[in-house]
Amino acid sequence: MSQIVAPPLRANSADTALRARAHRVIPGGLWGHLNADRMPEGYPQFFASAEGCRVRDVDGREFIDFMCSWGPIVLGHHHPAVEAAARSQAAFGDCMNGPAPVLVDLAELLVDLVPHADWCIFGKNGTDATTACVTIARAATGRRKILVATGAYHGAIPWCSPSVAGVTEEDRAHLLPYVFNDTASVAAAVEAAGTDLAGVLVSAFRHDFGFAQELPTPAFAQALRAACDAAGAALIVDDVRAGFRIDLGGSWEPLGVRPDLSAWSKAIANGHALAAVTGRDWLREAAMSVYTTGSFWCGSASMAAAMATLTELRRIDGPAHMRAMGERLRAGLAERAAHYGVAISQTGPAQMPTLLFDDDIEWRKGFAFCAEALRHGAYFHPKHNMFLSCAHTEADIDAALVAAEAGFRFVTR
Ligand SMILES: Cc1ncc(COP(=O)(O)O)c(C=O)c1O
Repeated sequence: MSQIVAPPLRANSADTALRARAHRVIPGGLWGHLNADRMPEGYPQFFASAEGCRVRDVDGREFIDFMCSWGPIVLGHHHPAVEAAARSQAAFGDCMNGPAPVLVDLAELLVDLVPHADWCIFGKNGTDATTACVTIARAATGRRKILVATGAYHGAIPWCSPSVAGVTEEDRAHLLPYVFNDTASVAAAVEAAGTDLAGVLVSAFRHDFGFAQELPTPAFAQALRAACDAAGAALIVDDVRAGFRIDLGGSWEPLGVRPDLSAWSKAIANGHALAAVTGRDWLREAAMSVYTTGSFWCGSASMAAAMATLTELRRIDGPAHMRAMGERLRAGLAERAAHYGVAISQTGPAQMPTLLFDDDIEWRKGFAFCAEALRHGAYFHPKHNMFLSCAHTEADIDAALVAAEAGFRFVTR
């Protein structure tokens, strides 16, 4: 590989102008993970529209989308049935003095869909759900310690933020680390917690940013279940990112291991803001006792959107479709990478693939690949797991592979 240079950004684009304005009035131009300054050159910050598996930026460029808004878009952008359901509920009322009846419909649907769920409560963001799970586990057990895997992401407030800025030691005083898929480290952390173990928090699979992904081994999942049972603690699966893409009953259903609590968000309402906690009966009273609420948490339009999303996912077996499309993408990427002699790793479930390049110092190859693929119409990510949706067709995957081929060719230049 002689030289890697990402294609230049158009200097006078609408996106560039908006970014300049944003930088004057918004710290850093944008908070959080959607800040495109961290993406390869040429990636747009601002989008004008989205439909199905395609997004269009403010300069009129259209891309086949493999980030799906970082997870929420599971049926495809602007899905007609979901949008109609949300619109129709909003026409009657969205943010009222209490929820619309759709709250009960949705809770019933989730309890029916998710085998471990005896009840559920709702919030808006994934962090609401993971935080509520931890709080409920502590309230139910009267204990403090929560086991958390090193490097795992569970949200953006002090107890779980990946940044230490503005975070005090006390915010995380009762978290104990373990290593994903390492049962010995779990045993050591359980021992360290002693009689104070409230719960074990675990991601649906290991999807740490910038690393190869790891699926949970059955032995690991069973060890967590056994440790929680032995201690009378709550097993909490953070299904915020993976939920409804791997298995509609929960990402650990195929493993045969059921949690006590699960946190959900992202894909639950196909882009409408909603989160949920599902739990078992022994945690019902604790769920009643904790004070968990928000001004918009009973918004009913997003619940109607969730009803439509989950109903459609069930009708079409969404996870199976996404798996098939993900496998087609994975096979095509492997073939093209081999053709160009580029060593890559593809990890994670096919529905949420991560593509990394071997020997890739500071993701330079990944950035070059993505920048070139973007120029050819495919929106991939160089470090983070990507997302398939039910709107991706075989033709879309094949078109994206043509763009990927350009990316691989570019990397070998
Ligand atoms: C596994 C996981 N948990 C929790 C969260 C937090 O969700 P939110 O950003 O909606 O608060 C995320 C968000 O990416 C996530 O991926």
